[in-house]
Amino acid sequence: MTRQTLATAVDLVDAPLVHKGKVRELYDLGEHYLIVVTDRISAFDWVLEPPVPYKGIVLNKLSAFWFGQTSAIQPNHLIHTDVSRLGGVAKDPERLKDRIMVVRKARRIDIECVVRGHITGGGWRQYEKTQAVNGIPLPPGLRKNAKLPEPIFTPAAKNDTGHDEDIPFDEMARRIGAELAEELRERSLRLFDWAARYCEERGLILADSKFEFGLADGAIVLIDEIFTPDSSRFWAKDKWAPDIEIDSMDKEPVRTYLAGSGWDKNSKPDPLPVHVVEETTRRYLDLYERLTGGKLA
Ligand SMILES: Nc1ncnc2c1ncn2[C@@H]1O[C@H](COP(=O)(O)OP(=O)(O)OP(=O)(O)O)[C@@H](O)[C@H]1O
Ligand SMILES: [Mg+2]
Repeated sequence: MTRQTLATAVDLVDAPLVHKGKVRELYDLGEHYLIVVTDRISAFDWVLEPPVPYKGIVLNKLSAFWFGQTSAIQPNHLIHTDVSRLGGVAKDPERLKDRIMVVRKARRIDIECVVRGHITGGGWRQYEKTQAVNGIPLPPGLRKNAKLPEPIFTPAAKNDTGHDEDIPFDEMARRIGAELAEELRERSLRLFDWAARYCEERGLILADSKFEFGLADGAIVLIDEIFTPDSSRFWAKDKWAPDIEIDSMDKEPVRTYLAGSGWDKNSKPDPLPVHVVEETTRRYLDLYERLTGGKLA
């Protein structure tokens, strides 16, 4: 059985849309929020065409899986993922099935809590210039993709432009208070540690990850999504090597295609060829299976 793709749920949900991100949509159910994960895929801040079958299902079910696994370490916003409990809000339950999450509303803390276990991407670019990441000094001589002596916490301030700003921990403490900042650092590191170990046992490397937290009834709750390929970098252990750009376990076919297509990143690229979309779906399904042991399609 194959599932029809979902580009947007705006016509399928009878509730006010309060936020539309590149991939997910947030609806207001009154007491709770409804998160719908679509099949949209983005690259370099552009939403590409067409949507990728199963991507939204994988992202939503992965997040739900991890929320369940980690709830004893850190309480989170997930209430349920059961479309039949949405009643009349779901105008087409069959299409929304597996893509929704009903969550507790929280007051978001405007910090992206980033943890890096390996040095790559933006962290690597900082290290090359300053031998430090967000003000944390690191040993000399590290190569790109190296495992760090221990995971580091490198927060970013969320801002309205969508481009988050790396800040030193002291700046985070100044913005939200030292006590809360310490708490979030500790919880983020604990979550990361747990998942990195879990991945390790399955032949995967969790290179880095990002968490968002909020406050609900005075308690700190994990919100948004966790340990999805949109919020974390997963590497296959056997693809790891220093200095190179390591295969992305989800978007590699798209990345390879775009790199070879001559796209200038300044305008929307042409639609992806069918074989690229198919290969990308396979990547998402494989990653889901490797992480959860479950099969989706
Ligand atoms: N339980 C919650 N309470 C309050 N806000 C939440 C909760 N869960 C998620 N959010 C917020 O909902 C929004 C989800 O949006 P989403 O991640 O799709 O888009 P974005 O982060 O604005 O943009 P993009 O991911 O496209 O760069 C985020 O702003 C997130 O902080
Ligand atoms: Mg987001």
